[in-house]
Amino acid sequence: MTTAVVTGAAQGVGLTTARLLAQKGHHVVMTDVQSLDAQAAKLAGEGLSVSHLSGDVSSEAFVNDLAAKVAAEQGGADVLVNNAGISLICPAEETSFEQWQRVMSINLAGPFLLSKALGQQMLAKGKGSIVNVASIAGLRGVIHRTAYNASKHGLIGMTRTLAAEWGARGVRVNAVCPGWIKTEMDVADQGSGAYGDADIINRVPMARFAKPEDVAAAIAFLADDGAFVNGVTLPVDGGWTADASWDALRLKTR
Ligand SMILES: NC(=O)c1ccc[n+]([C@@H]2O[C@H](COP(=O)([O-])OP(=O)(O)OC[C@H]3O[C@@H](n4cnc5c(N)ncnc54)[C@H](O)[C@@H]3O)[C@@H](O)[C@H]2O)c1
Repeated sequence: MTTAVVTGAAQGVGLTTARLLAQKGHHVVMTDVQSLDAQAAKLAGEGLSVSHLSGDVSSEAFVNDLAAKVAAEQGGADVLVNNAGISLICPAEETSFEQWQRVMSINLAGPFLLSKALGQQMLAKGKGSIVNVASIAGLRGVIHRTAYNASKHGLIGMTRTLAAEWGARGVRVNAVCPGWIKTEMDVADQGSGAYGDADIINRVPMARFAKPEDVAAAIAFLADDGAFVNGVTLPVDGGWTADASWDALRLKTR
């Protein structure tokens, strides 16, 4: 049985992805800074093969512990989904260095540490697939999100570089770039009053939010089925990044 490690697996995109990859036949190692007892028990109750370890992806000691567990119990990772991430909505001139560093540590350094530790296992096997969960905020600027957007642009830079560096040794590295998704992250961000549902729905050609299932399906394709797909940044955004129309023009099409 192949092994997939999914970070940020306690809720949202990560939990949905963990379930889908397990349904597709992987043993899934779920990890999150939150407890995973209830989520892992639920998936196991659905007949799926999962294990879990909680910790902070921005801690090198934790990542090394996780990699050691995966090596000892599963013989190494075949798939890594770097999904854990945090949001920060704050004007650039008010963003503290501490806030900046926290976002960079979790959204960018964490995926690097995991790609390094689990990538070594994949390189030793001569095969593997890493999928990084970036954002359309990694492809475009979005006001009041300097640290978040810089972290996601950085994640895309890392994706392309690792794809080039490890492709010849059988390890593919790709990214998905979701638009706004209805998850706890969006609920918290909307709670700050920064935007509302209509702002997003009006901006998206397909006139809706992304669902965790939309993103999980794209992750699963890149993880398992994209045999020669390496170094791509796949928008899962209902056409957002394709569309440079102004809102009134787009709304005329509805
Ligand atoms: N929600 C959106 O609109 C949206 C849009 C584009 C991209 N994304 C990205 O998708 C990914 C998943 O987002 P989501 O919407 O499911 O968010 P979410 O907040 O619902 O889930 C994120 C998960 O990551 C975990 N996490 C946070 N910090 C961690 C850390 N230091 N170590 C380990 N785990 C940690 C959280 O506990 C949580 O379970 C993130 O990388 C996010 O940036 C989200």
